[in-house]
Amino acid sequence: MGKVTWQSPSNIALVKYWGKYENQIPANPSISFTLNSSYTTTSLSWEAKEKTDDFSFELFFEGKAEESFKPKIEAYFKRVHHLLPFLSEFHFTIETSNTFPHSSGIASSASGLSALSLCMASLAKSLNIPHDEDFYRFASTLSRLGSGSASRSVYGNLVVWGKHALIENSSDHFAVPYTGEVHPVFENFQDYILLVDKGEKKVSSTVGHGLMNNHPYAMKRFEQAHTNLNKLKSILAEGDLEAFGNLVESEALTLHGMMLTSNPYFILMKPNTLRIIEEIWAFREETKTPVYFTLDAGANVHMLFPEMVKNKVDTFAQTKLVGLCKDEEYICDQIGNGPKQL
Ligand code: DP6
Repeated sequence: MGKVTWQSPSNIALVKYWGKYENQIPANPSISFTLNSSYTTTSLSWEAKEKTDDFSFELFFEGKAEESFKPKIEAYFKRVHHLLPFLSEFHFTIETSNTFPHSSGIASSASGLSALSLCMASLAKSLNIPHDEDFYRFASTLSRLGSGSASRSVYGNLVVWGKHALIENSSDHFAVPYTGEVHPVFENFQDYILLVDKGEKKVSSTVGHGLMNNHPYAMKRFEQAHTNLNKLKSILAEGDLEAFGNLVESEALTLHGMMLTSNPYFILMKPNTLRIIEEIWAFREETKTPVYFTLDAGANVHMLFPEMVKNKVDTFAQTKLVGLCKDEEYICDQIGNGPKQL
């Protein structure tokens, strides 16, 4: 019997992962900022049971038994069973909660599946199960098998997942911390998440990734992600905020462009997504404040800016943006240091 608890953050991609092959292998490399205050806390308790062919677990979300999450966990157990052969020898209790509202439209799969994977990696370690001797690399591999973007959440700051010719040690199988030069302007970089649509996403990201198979522009897009990651390397080193914003906004619109041009096609942006983008552009133009947006696979807008303009941006958000957010809610987050064992 035993119990372990990990807290693991969400992340926001700058160069996006969109498209994958079998076994959760990404079609292109991606890079993200790990967030600080948007995280999942997961406790994993286990007790030995007779070995059977199936998995035995209970799941509690925010203190209540949650049946609807079970298929995702079951699928995860199946995918990682070859790495965690003991899964069928224990009964597990998984207790999980998020710091952000579940219905906020913030994807909880990155934080949720990385938190669970870190717990599993801790259990594997305590059982001396032979695995990758690098704890976080192993946790990242497990996380990837749960949800691609979760692989990046096991490290802090800037994290790369997917093989890129110019990023040493980068891999399709796990994420690695970005070790290139980073200008101080990116320290404590801010991410305000403007909540536009708090409903459930209408297209799951797994379905979305699938639409990149046979997508007419897929190959060009995958090549572009490699080029953009390469460009971002010098932008990060030089601290060129304008080039940063240009690249990151283009990545976000390209991601949504892929959705607009897939078959079936779909639109995840809402009218207020576009209104917020227009407000950000107008504010940037008028005040020359370096503030940029990115999007994930949903309607919410992530507003990215350096800490030095925080006061100005707070006033802007309070006067121009809050009214465009669902229930006037937005989350003030920033780049963070990665998961913590409690
Ligand atoms: C648009 O990691 O949620 O946020 O691997 O199917 O679980 P699965 O997909 P997921 O996809 C995230 C896509 C994205 C871009 C990104 O985070 O890189």
